[in-house]
Amino acid sequence: MNRKTITEKKIVLTGDRPTGKLHLGHYIGSLKNRVAFQDQYTQYVMIADMQALTDNAEHPEKVRNNILEVALDYLSVGIDPARSTIFIQSMVPQLSEITMYFLNLVSLGRAQQNPTVKDEMKQKGYKSNVPLGFLSYPVSQAADILAFKTDLVPVGQDQLPVIEQTNEIVDKFNRLYAPVFKRVEAVVPKIGARLPGIEGKAKMSKSLGNAIYLSDTAEELSKKVMQMYTDPGHIHAGDLGKIEGNVVFAYLDAFDPDKEGVAELKKQYKKGGLGDVVLKKRLIAVLEDMLVPVREKRDHWSGRQADVLEMLFAGSSAASAVAARTLAEAKEAMHIDYRSMTH
Ligand code: TRP
Repeated sequence: MNRKTITEKKIVLTGDRPTGKLHLGHYIGSLKNRVAFQDQYTQYVMIADMQALTDNAEHPEKVRNNILEVALDYLSVGIDPARSTIFIQSMVPQLSEITMYFLNLVSLGRAQQNPTVKDEMKQKGYKSNVPLGFLSYPVSQAADILAFKTDLVPVGQDQLPVIEQTNEIVDKFNRLYAPVFKRVEAVVPKIGARLPGIEGKAKMSKSLGNAIYLSDTAEELSKKVMQMYTDPGHIHAGDLGKIEGNVVFAYLDAFDPDKEGVAELKKQYKKGGLGDVVLKKRLIAVLEDMLVPVREKRDHWSGRQADVLEMLFAGSSAASAVAARTLAEAKEAMHIDYRSMTH
């Protein structure tokens, strides 16, 4: 029976490379939406360990150590394994098999033209020494997405070229063999895509050391907020202040539920009379409100490592069963389902 006849819900898939703990940028740009998606959609959440290895082959321990960190981040924000299938990429071997067939549908030139890959290659200083796995990670990502007959892929702006390449693979596969796959739709969240780091120079990123982590303690959080870049011209509370480029306001815009209150503060800050410390204290309170329950859930789960692993293994088995059906369809379409030759 076709999966679609069992469930009318659209299918959504997201993934994270397990190379570090998740931070507030991930929360506002992605994790928060996933908590809402799990009621609306059939949701898959993948820990992309194989993709992480494409530029970390020398450091498999880094990937290993972050599997549980990322799983704890998911559970602590309320992604619920009863309503979302959370799985580990390498534990769904069908994804690798599908990738092998997709690799034949993409030329070297096309892989090298992907703007996301180009940017990342520049950042990492890769030239012709680029690992082939890294150059072709968008093809593997297409397999991740298509194996689950995904409808929607929520991603950051920077990942749009990867989704475009996925749709090219859909078109080519369907044209060459049979219409097994359907085009997917990227969904780019409005806020959060560009949440700045605490220093205000770049977006929040684990590699730049400018991130506030979901797992930060109250002390760490408060220290980071107190260090936040505001307006260097705003020295005394009475000075006129700038809102643009002011990291504290960027965060209040992203996290403070009281929008009118924030608008009022902006007015005050611009005309002078509002000190940075008062502003930062408000932000700390807003973030604490949000993070206290997150820390509680994290504490609960971090004492139950075996349960977390069991959850990941069960999710991976379930994902594997779905991917196996898609792989079988793909092989049938390609006429490499040799068992069918016996009847
Ligand atoms: N490339 C994504 C990132 O770096 C992670 C990822 C892997 C992913 N597979 C995916 C995202 C499938 C969406 C769908 O963030």
